[in-house]
Amino acid sequence: MFNEKTPADQTAGTDGDSLARPAAPATAITAAVKGPEGKETPITETSLRGTSARETGMDRIRIIGGTPLHGVIPISGAKNAALPLMAAGLLTDETLVLERVPGLADIKTMTAMLEHLGAGVVSVPGPNGDRALEITTPTLTETTAPYDLVRKMRASVLVLGPVLARTGVAEVSLPGGCAIGNRPVDLHLKAFEALGATISLEGGYIRATAEGGLTGGRIVFPMVSVGATENALMAAALAKGESTIVNAAREPEIVDLARCLKAMGAEISGEGTGTITVTGVERLHGATHRVTADRIEAGTYAMAASITGGELTLTGIEAEPIAAVITKLSEAGVEVTEVEDGLHVRNRNGRIGGVDVMTEPFPGFPTDLQAQFMTLMAVSKGAAMITETIFENRFMHVPELCRMGANITVHHASALVRGVERLKGAPVMATDLRASVSLVLAGLAAEGETIVNRVYHLDRGYERIEEKLSACGATVERLTD
Ligand code: UD1
Repeated sequence: MFNEKTPADQTAGTDGDSLARPAAPATAITAAVKGPEGKETPITETSLRGTSARETGMDRIRIIGGTPLHGVIPISGAKNAALPLMAAGLLTDETLVLERVPGLADIKTMTAMLEHLGAGVVSVPGPNGDRALEITTPTLTETTAPYDLVRKMRASVLVLGPVLARTGVAEVSLPGGCAIGNRPVDLHLKAFEALGATISLEGGYIRATAEGGLTGGRIVFPMVSVGATENALMAAALAKGESTIVNAAREPEIVDLARCLKAMGAEISGEGTGTITVTGVERLHGATHRVTADRIEAGTYAMAASITGGELTLTGIEAEPIAAVITKLSEAGVEVTEVEDGLHVRNRNGRIGGVDVMTEPFPGFPTDLQAQFMTLMAVSKGAAMITETIFENRFMHVPELCRMGANITVHHASALVRGVERLKGAPVMATDLRASVSLVLAGLAAEGETIVNRVYHLDRGYERIEEKLSACGATVERLTD
């Protein structure tokens, strides 16, 4: 149950769960998930978001651009760390407490998934005014990740490793295409096979079975996958014997997951490098873990300071996880300095220089900041070649930026951005999370009014974005029809 032990979201509007207001979708989630059991448990957009326009995702954000941002922005816990950490809660019958969990739509979707599988999820006030989740899974009552949740959020597949490790069986619907390209799960399945599972396909569902439990093995990934590494790590934690994960992802979110698993009693070494070794243990126990800071949110606000010619202090984030981004911003002429408890970002140069960027797995430049950086380059004093190597079809922000006056030409996986002096406000719409926020950045820099439609994408990944920006001088408001 996603029970509010205390009304945690009251501390909040601040505490972050903006989607929880004014209706209490937590209740709606529970009701929907507890409906008729079966593979396609009906969890609708409305049930996750309540009934107002705000919750059905029809909200829009109105921005009047041109004001340099000044102030302090606290960085939230990382969505991409919190999601696998929540899945890790399925690995033990004791309680896993996760602190600094951001209040986001994706967290609600994962909550619904955990509850569907038999976990209890309780939201409680955490330290420093943050929100914590207490996840308790005495037994897993379901082994299938239902289609409606997987379709809504790809990270739902992260429950497979824990469910398989704990019960010897896990099922998931075959994921369809998604807005940023075809994203298969073959690497996740390869990892399970290497740990002794048998994979079969039945009625559109992939079934992994390991009667008698998983056994340690050597998992060699042909390409780097964050999600597959996380699933492999969680499954191997409870497998019999030693496992090696070769060509593992090195993202900070992997390191955070390993830290939490170790606190739960797992034996893991090599996290943060390309080779991770896991010695399986018989059982894991409860723990308390603080979610790492959201490096993508921090990078986004660093670009907000840069594009408006402003100055922001981002608290709660270190330089190392966004070193590649800091390098590119510095090359462009933005000053980024480490300060106590955070980073200070200042653009004193007005229009900055054009800098080429290629997305790469960590420690390279993150694909999740590509759209935002492209927006920054759209108003640079020069040109920039932006190459996307992780996902196909991740340039959907380009036509919208062009409607605002940007000069961008896409050729296959590269976009040539020729900087213009000024963007012009316009009604725009985006089809994924990072594309949406790139349009917010464009709006902050543009002349006049920008309306960003389909705000529900933003609510998936940016906690209290309009509040954080307004506090730094931006003219930005949410319009609810
Ligand atoms: C995670 C992040 C996402 C980020 C991405 C890359 C979460 C919840 N999401 O997504 O924000 O953009 O990492 O940094 O953490 N692939 C396969 N087969 C698979 C799995 C992946 O071919 O079985 C491919 C994908 O299509 C993609 C590449 O591998 O081209 C990398 O994807 P992956 O690292 O798995 O991304 P996610 O874990 O889904």
